[in-house]
Formats: sequence, structure tokens, C-alpha cells
Amino acid sequence: MDEEVDITKDDYASSDVHSTAAASDTVLIFDTSLRDGEQAAGTSLTSGEKLSIARQLDRLGIDIIEAGFPVSSPGDFEAVQLIAREVRRPIICGLAHCRPAAIDRAWEALQDAARPRIHVFLSASDIQLAHMLKKSRLEALEMAREMVARAKSYTHDVEFSPMDATRAEPDFLYLLLEAVIDAGAVTVNIADTVGYSMVHDFGNLLEGILSDVPNIRQACLSVHCHDDLGLAVANSLEAVRRGARQVECTINGIGERAGNAALEEVVMALHTRRDVFGLRTNVDTTQLYKTSRIVSDLTGFVVQSNKAIVGANAFRHQSGIHQDGMVKESTTYEIMDPRSVGIPASSLVLGKLSGKHAFRERLAELGFSLSDEALAHAFRAFKDLADKKREIADRDLVSLVGEELRQETQVYKLDHVDVSCGDHSLHSAAVRLIGPDGQALEDAALGTGPVDAVYQVINRIIGIPNSLVEFTINANTEGFDAIGEVLIRIESEGRLYTGRGASTDIVVASAKAYMNALNRLIIFHRGAAEQGALYNATQGIHEAA
Ligand code: KIV
Ligand code: ZN
Repeated sequence: MDEEVDITKDDYASSDVHSTAAASDTVLIFDTSLRDGEQAAGTSLTSGEKLSIARQLDRLGIDIIEAGFPVSSPGDFEAVQLIAREVRRPIICGLAHCRPAAIDRAWEALQDAARPRIHVFLSASDIQLAHMLKKSRLEALEMAREMVARAKSYTHDVEFSPMDATRAEPDFLYLLLEAVIDAGAVTVNIADTVGYSMVHDFGNLLEGILSDVPNIRQACLSVHCHDDLGLAVANSLEAVRRGARQVECTINGIGERAGNAALEEVVMALHTRRDVFGLRTNVDTTQLYKTSRIVSDLTGFVVQSNKAIVGANAFRHQSGIHQDGMVKESTTYEIMDPRSVGIPASSLVLGKLSGKHAFRERLAELGFSLSDEALAHAFRAFKDLADKKREIADRDLVSLVGEELRQETQVYKLDHVDVSCGDHSLHSAAVRLIGPDGQALEDAALGTGPVDAVYQVINRIIGIPNSLVEFTINANTEGFDAIGEVLIRIESEGRLYTGRGASTDIVVASAKAYMNALNRLIIFHRGAAEQGALYNATQGIHEAA
């Protein structure tokens, strides 16, 4: 490997080492839930859902939102453009690999943003250069320099990530960083792409960069850690301790494979252990819990009960000794106040007599802002629900709005479901869908149970081959009158599509979830067909690099 270093450090020497980026006491939080998080197998958010998440990230005080990878799909392009136009306070970032078309497309999506950032990335390790890019180090360095300069011609705010930096040869990494900073990168992001690094080694790498890249103080040093060995948060915190001032992370730690560093954990560690770090963030920690719920609801990734900070049990004390301590003095067993992360004291808010104003206000507090039409529709659904349930909890509202947002992107709409089921009976279902041109499509079928019968009918009408790989049903609150939430994942041509549906009737919820997944599949294929040569639907982001 070493003899392959085909350039020398002196080629890129720079005398400017006076920036104070690393001396700042603020750690910038860069959220990539909508890009790396969205790459997780089985995620497929619509633009409307991405905008809802971006608005909540704004409320959370995130400094930089990575909204997507515009060249990768028409859906990503549309979402980045929408967020760039609508969310004005944070920096909005679009990812691009080292190809002119990717940089140009990123700028096309971002140009209306109040504060646009182009994030350029390129493999830096020999293993990726040889097997994926088939480029020498020198060729890679020139590509990176040229593409950063191209991005810089569009906007001042350019970030560069050497992908797989933790497996790259350090001397080459230093030269690469120096070259891209010379070309105009104002943030350089050290990616532990495959989650390989040990905490101490990652810290040493950061220290090496700070001492051996001559112009490093002209840029903000950032890190991006994956969780394959469960070390993403630990590595990110160690990097901060050694001088990094931007951390890339995702809500609930979602992301490619085992995911990314969990944003809520990084932020609360910095907040709770200010004695160790002496640093601050711009995050409003009281918004963390709400953000976690919204991301979990919209992505369909359930948060495990024992998850730090936002899990259902994170602040629950079970053992008698612990409970005794808590009654006497909460700090005996609690290092954080649950209110500091926004865990609500009580979530009961609305009922049958609540008006539209209160309904809209509560939705806004929960992070949703609907168009007038969608709000009117959701309010009617709320009134229907209030006739069936005495008390409407926040969870019910989130389910209800989720249904509303999903309606926006339906190609085929579920109009009517009728089932007959029970012990010893034949299970049958009749379903009516409304097709893309408004035509009613009806059929009936038998199945092994009511849900199977409904799915058989839908398959007969829509006729897209797929297989069901996951089906979960949950009550969204306590009580027999709770809304049933169904989450399914279907597979078609090697790709997973998530579907969610909510209703007080679990068969209807199951039908809605299936329709939601099928609609995502149809929309994905339509987009891929429109995009033609630019977009290869089977190519993942890492292959695209
Ligand atoms: O993991 C990774 O290397 C990435 C880059 C695009 C920053 O996601
Ligand atoms: Zn990543």
C-alpha cells in the first residue's frame, strides 16, 4: 500500500494555518437522517414526509440538514429542492459524488436555499479506490480537487468527505485533505464509513490530521461514524474531545447497515458531561423526544425500549431499591431530567369538543404543518375518531396525520374494505380501489384469514409481484379502543418498500399499510423510468462513488 503514495506532501504545502475553527466551543450538529438515514434498507420517505422531518429538525436547532443526494433519484432531487425552499434557518446540504453531473444536479436542487451547502465525497482507501473506482491515489486526488472547485463555483459552503477515511493510508489522507481545502472546502469530514475504527485509533487519526494537514485550520473538522461495531457515538465523542467541531449523526441512529451515530446520544453526552467536554451545541434538547417519535413514525423504524435517551424505558425505574432512591432524591439514579429531552408529563390533550384551532396548534407542537386542505381532511378524521374514543392522545394524532400525509402520494387509493371472518368460517374479502384515472376497481377473494383475503384481492387488482417480508401490528396507546398501527415491508426486484397504515379496525389498517407500500413501489418505478440514464435504480450510494 505505502509504495502507492504517488504524490508528495510538498506538492500541496500551504502556509495558512491560522483559522480558529478547532478552537470554537460550539459543536455543530449535522443531521443526515434524510440522506444516510434514508439509505437504511426498507426506508422510502415521500417528499412531504421528508419536509415534515426537516421542519422538526429546524425546531430542534440542527445547524446543518443533509436533505438528500439529488443525483441519485428524482425523489431525492425533489425533496432536497422542496426543503431548500421551505426550511430557511439551517444550512441545507445536498450530497454529490465526484462527477460533474452530480455536483451540477446538487446545485440545481439547492440554489433556492437561504444557506446552501454542497457535500462532495470520494473514496479515500486503497481498497475502495482499487475495487470500486479503479483509480490511483493521484487520479482520485485530482478528481476530488476538481469537483470541490466545481462545487465552489456555485457556493462558498463546500464540504468534502474522504469516504472510508479510517482505512485510508494516513499520509495520503493528509494530502487529500490539504488539496481539497486548497480548492475551497470549508468543512472536511472524516468518515468511518464501515464502522471499523477503535475509539483510541480514531482519536489519534484526528490528532494526526490536526497536526499534519498544514491548512486544516482553514476548515471545520467534522466526523461521520457508522455503528457496525457499536462504537459510532463513542468515536464521535472522542473525535470532539480531540478537536472535531462538527458531528454528522442521525435521529435514533438510523442509517446504512447498523446505522450512524445517534444524534440524541451525542448531544446529551455533550450536554450532560459538560464537565468533560466544556463544549456546547445549538440543539434545543427538549425537542429530542418529539423528533425521535416523528422520525420513528415516518420511517417505520421502531425505537427499542432500552434505547438511550428516547427509548420507552430510558427513564423508567423498575427495581425496588432504585424506586426508593428516586422517591427520596431523583439524582440518586437519574443523570438527566426526562423533561430536558422533552418527555411529556402527560400526553392527553384533545377530545370530542376540541375545535379546529386547538387541533392545528397541537399538531404544530407535534411538528406537523399541513396544507389547509389536508388539515380540513385530518380534522374530519379526528372528529370521527373522537366519536369512537373518549380521549385523543398525541400518539393518536401522530397516527392520524401519518394517514393524511400518506394520502398525498397515493396512486391507487383504498376506498372500501369488507371482510367476513371468524372461527370455522371461510375468510373472504371484497375491496374497492380508486385507480390513477379515478376509475373504481373492485374484486373479491378468499384467504387463510381476513388480512390474507384482503391482500389477495389487492394483488388481483394491481397485479405487481411482490413478497411480504415483515408484518407488525401495534396498539398505539393503552386501552381497548386504541388505534392499531400496521407496519409492513414488501420486497420486489430486490428492493424493500415500507408501508404503514392506522385505523381502529386492524384489518383496515393492514389494507392501508399494504396500499401504502404498493404505492411507494409504483412511485419508485415511475421516477426511475422518468430519470432514465441518470439514475440506475439498483445502484446504492456507495457504489455510485
Ligand atoms: O459513510 C460515508 O462515508 C458517507 C459519506 C457519503 C460521508 O455516508
Ligand atoms: Zn455514511
